[in-house]
Amino acid sequence: MANVTLTKAKNTKNDEFYTQYIDIQKEMNAYLEYNPDTFRDKIVLLPCDDPEWSNFTKFFAQNFERFGLKKLISTSYAPKSKLGKYKKDYYQLTLFESESPKFDEKKTKTHGKIFILDRDDNHSGKIDINDLQWNYLEGDGDFRSDEVKKIRDEADIIITNPPFSLFREFVEWVIETEKKFIIIGNQNAITYKEVFTHIKYNKMWIGASSSGKDMVFEVPEGTEVSVKDKEKAAKMGYVGNYTRMGNCLWFTNLEHGRRHQPLQLMSMEDNIKFSKHKQVRENKYPKYDNYDAIDIPFTDAIPNDYKGVMGVPITFLDKYNPEQFRIVGLLASAGYDPFIVGIPFKGDRLACPLINGARIYARILIQWKLDEDS
Ligand SMILES: C[S@@+](CC[C@H](N)C(=O)[O-])C[C@H]1O[C@@H](n2cnc3c(N)ncnc32)[C@H](O)[C@@H]1O
Repeated sequence: MANVTLTKAKNTKNDEFYTQYIDIQKEMNAYLEYNPDTFRDKIVLLPCDDPEWSNFTKFFAQNFERFGLKKLISTSYAPKSKLGKYKKDYYQLTLFESESPKFDEKKTKTHGKIFILDRDDNHSGKIDINDLQWNYLEGDGDFRSDEVKKIRDEADIIITNPPFSLFREFVEWVIETEKKFIIIGNQNAITYKEVFTHIKYNKMWIGASSSGKDMVFEVPEGTEVSVKDKEKAAKMGYVGNYTRMGNCLWFTNLEHGRRHQPLQLMSMEDNIKFSKHKQVRENKYPKYDNYDAIDIPFTDAIPNDYKGVMGVPITFLDKYNPEQFRIVGLLASAGYDPFIVGIPFKGDRLACPLINGARIYARILIQWKLDEDS
C-alpha cells in the first residue's frame, strides 16, 4: 500500500494494521485509574482481532487475573475473506495453528477463529495466555455475521481496532447492543453524521490517551508503506514492518477521568488582549455569515463568559467535559441538516461555516452549560 493513512487505508480497503501493546496498555490504564473494577467479572470481546498477530489478546490474557476478568473472547477474520477484499494474500499459517491438533487444512483459509480464556486449563495455578483455547468458527468471522453477533451479545465490553473501511458499520454494530466499548478510529470519523449523533447525545466520546496524535501500527510482511511513514515510525522507535498514522483516536462509552477535567479559560476581553494566538487577538471572535454563532479557531481560546453558541475545532472533543459544555451541533461541509447543525441556517447558499465568504473547516457548536442544564 503506497500511502498509509487511516483515510487511505479506508479508501484502498486495506485493514491490516496491528495496534501496539504500549498503546493498548496506556488506554486501558486510564479506565483502570478511574475505576479499578472496570473489567472485573466482565466478559471482554475482542472482535476483528487476530491473536496470532495482534496484541489485544496478549494484553488481556496476560492481565486476566489482575483485571479480574470473567472471560476473554477474541475472534479473527478468515484469510480468504481478506484476500477476496484486498487482492493480497494475507494467509500466513502460524506454528500456533499448524502444530495444533485442531489444525484443519480445509478450514484454515476459509474460516475465522475464536479464542477463549476463562479457566486455568493447564493447571499451572494461574489463568494466563497459556490457557487460551481456540477453534475454527463456523463462518469467516465477519463481525456482521449471525455467529459473531451472538458472541457479541454475550459480551459486556467490546474492545478492538476495527477495520477502518467499515468503521461506521462497526460503530452501529456496537452501539445497537448498548454494550460498553473501546475502539480505535480516525479523528475525521467525528464528522460522520452517525458518529457525531452518538457523540452529541453522550452515547460515545473520545478515549483517554490518543488525542489525535500519531500512532504506530505493525503491518504484515510485504505491505508497501510510504517512505515518509516508515521514517516517522522509525523516529518513534519502530523499525521494520511498521507504519504510522496521524489523527488516531480511541472512541469509547466507558468513563475515564480525563473527561471530567474542566478546561481553565479566560474571558473574551482577556483573550483578545493576551491570547497566545495572533489570529484571536487580531480577528477577535467573528460571527459566521450563515449561522448565529462565533468562531473560535483554538480550544484554549474559548471565552469563559460568552453565553451564545460557539464554533470550535473538532479537536475540542478531546477536552470536552460534559459537566462544563453542551454540544449543540456540527457544522461540516455537507448540506444543512437541522438535526445535525442544531441551530437555524441564516444563509442563502453554502451550509458549511463561512466568515466573510471564506469557508471554515468543520466546527463543533457548543455552549457553556448553565447551572439549570445540569
Ligand atoms: C485494523 S486491523 C486491527 C487488527 C487488531 N484488532 C489490532 O488492532 O491489532 C482490523 C482487522 O479486521 C479484519 N476485518 C476486516 N473486515 C472484517 C470484517 N468484516 N469482519 C471481521 N474482521 C474484519 C481485518 O482483516 C484486520 O485483521
